[in-house]
Amino acid sequence: MEIVTLTITINGQTIKAPFGSTILQAARQAGIDIPTLCNHPALVPVGACRVCLVEVKGQRNLQPACTFPVVDGMEVQTETPALVKARKFVIDMLFSQRNHFCMFCEMSGKCELQDLGYRYGIDHWIYSTYTKRFPVDATSPYFLLDHNRCVLCSRCLRACDELPVNRTLGLGQRGADSMICADGIAPLGSSTCISCGSCVQVCPTGALFEKHSAFMGTDEKMSCTKSICSFCSIGCGMTIVTRGDQVQRIESDWEAPVNGGRLCRKGRFEPLYDGRKRLTTPLVRRNGKLAEADWDEALQIASEHIGRTDAAALGALSSGDATNEALYLFQRLFRRELGAAGAGLLRGGISRLTGMKPGKLSDLENSDLILLIGADPTKDQPVASFLIKRALDKGAKLVIVDDRENSLSPFAWQTVPSGDLDKLLVMAVQASRPVVLHGAEMTADAAKSLMQLGKKAVAIALEPAGNGCAARALGFQNGLPSGTHRLLYILLGEEKDIGENLQQAIAPDAFLIVQASYTSPLAEKAHVLLPSAIWSERDGTLTNTEGRVQRARKAREPLGESRQDWEILALLADRLGRKMGESFDDISAQTVREVQGKEI
Ligand code: SF4
Ligand code: SF4
Ligand code: SF4
Ligand code: FES
Repeated sequence: MEIVTLTITINGQTIKAPFGSTILQAARQAGIDIPTLCNHPALVPVGACRVCLVEVKGQRNLQPACTFPVVDGMEVQTETPALVKARKFVIDMLFSQRNHFCMFCEMSGKCELQDLGYRYGIDHWIYSTYTKRFPVDATSPYFLLDHNRCVLCSRCLRACDELPVNRTLGLGQRGADSMICADGIAPLGSSTCISCGSCVQVCPTGALFEKHSAFMGTDEKMSCTKSICSFCSIGCGMTIVTRGDQVQRIESDWEAPVNGGRLCRKGRFEPLYDGRKRLTTPLVRRNGKLAEADWDEALQIASEHIGRTDAAALGALSSGDATNEALYLFQRLFRRELGAAGAGLLRGGISRLTGMKPGKLSDLENSDLILLIGADPTKDQPVASFLIKRALDKGAKLVIVDDRENSLSPFAWQTVPSGDLDKLLVMAVQASRPVVLHGAEMTADAAKSLMQLGKKAVAIALEPAGNGCAARALGFQNGLPSGTHRLLYILLGEEKDIGENLQQAIAPDAFLIVQASYTSPLAEKAHVLLPSAIWSERDGTLTNTEGRVQRARKAREPLGESRQDWEILALLADRLGRKMGESFDDISAQTVREVQGKEI
């Protein structure tokens, strides 16, 4: 489609702007600054605060730049004396409403209202301040809502509507007493809030702020590292905010192609509250008890035992959440170099619907029919459920194939029992842009039926493990490879533990080497325990469920003596006389070639 370009003038400068853009968008594209408050680039503008007022030639009144569309030949002024006066009036009014005593506010130094105050020289109140005290809602486990600092810009409720599509927030009371409220009147902690944190990230003032990073200093003291969430297979882009070696908070990356600024509780908040005990030094079993050792001793013992074990008696299992580099080295060392019966996955990858068009999550946006089968994304891949709900808002229909209640059932147009797939095929054939989203619970029969759709539908697999897509491309099988394992090497990483069935499959006399980040019942059984870095301490690539290879970056050094998973495997391989690569970059390049060279 051809994009029509319009010519407009802002402050005497002639610029080009695409048809359909607002004055604010056109100005920003041209590097012209117009102050804003209620506007957020990720949200639909509403023109509520009047901070962005501009003069448009031919218009009788000042107009909000964030909602006013450009027309060809338009002439705009953004900073005349009349505009400055109007803006100062608006900002004065906002400061005089509620409690904006910045020196006592947690967000002082990172507040957009305060920035506007500085910009327009607001150094005292010219209107009497509002003396009513509003409540503070501290019931959410992760953030606070202080109504005293709220400027009623509505960014939070638009974020809740548009990003997770959860619609928890609304506006209660009237006039100057208006308050943001959850489910009409509920405290946030007992409301339908799913703690995605989108509202907190978009709030321009100190009204919504995170508990974990509160009172830990202003943003100048923080460092930001762009990375990728590995807590499910969606692979959301995120920014890790650190002060020194402490992770303060996790923010979404508005530019990330997969999630477009969305994050879920698993990605944004839960990692900050992981109370498990970290492993910070290698441990080896001496006289029946695990005792501290250095890396040299631990790797020596591990390599000696591996070296003297027959390939047929060697078992190897990896977490599917490990980076591409760790998975690549794991399978190369154990399967290719040592000839172990197989390199298995702790939590299995899923098979693909062959013959259908492989899809991207962005295909959901323009789909008219979404078929969800064998998956519960609200629970397992929450951002995928946000994207589904967004597509439903745009007119798509959701059909769920499940014999049980699914968390998305309340949004479904129809629920089809797994034995009635013919009906599903008819619906898909009649649709214009059907998308099949399938998960680990899809049966082989259902897969066979769906594959009859061929290129008529786009198929997206929802991998159960964070990096399951790469594991599948690298040839990992599900579960423990068959055979009697006299030695078992388990890359547990950050997983809580392995399932009971796998625990029972470990022979009591097997020599157990575990590479893990936290103590756990499995780690306690190990003969050699190798401490590994966690999500915020690792460099590498991850392959999301669509097959998109993305770069994860470390935001802090590994704790204690722990090391990155790929590094532990490279050191172990070296001890075994198998050289895996010269450097991280070398190993990463081999890995990406290997992963992308396979069908994923
Ligand atoms: S945390 Fe998410 S779900 Fe909860 S109120 Fe905020 S935007 Fe809505
Ligand atoms: S809580 Fe924050 S985002 Fe929501 S209306 Fe108030 S100031 Fe705006
Ligand atoms: S949807 Fe998955 S990848 Fe995205 S934030 Fe949540 S856990 Fe992380
Ligand atoms: S930013 Fe335009 S009206 Fe608020």
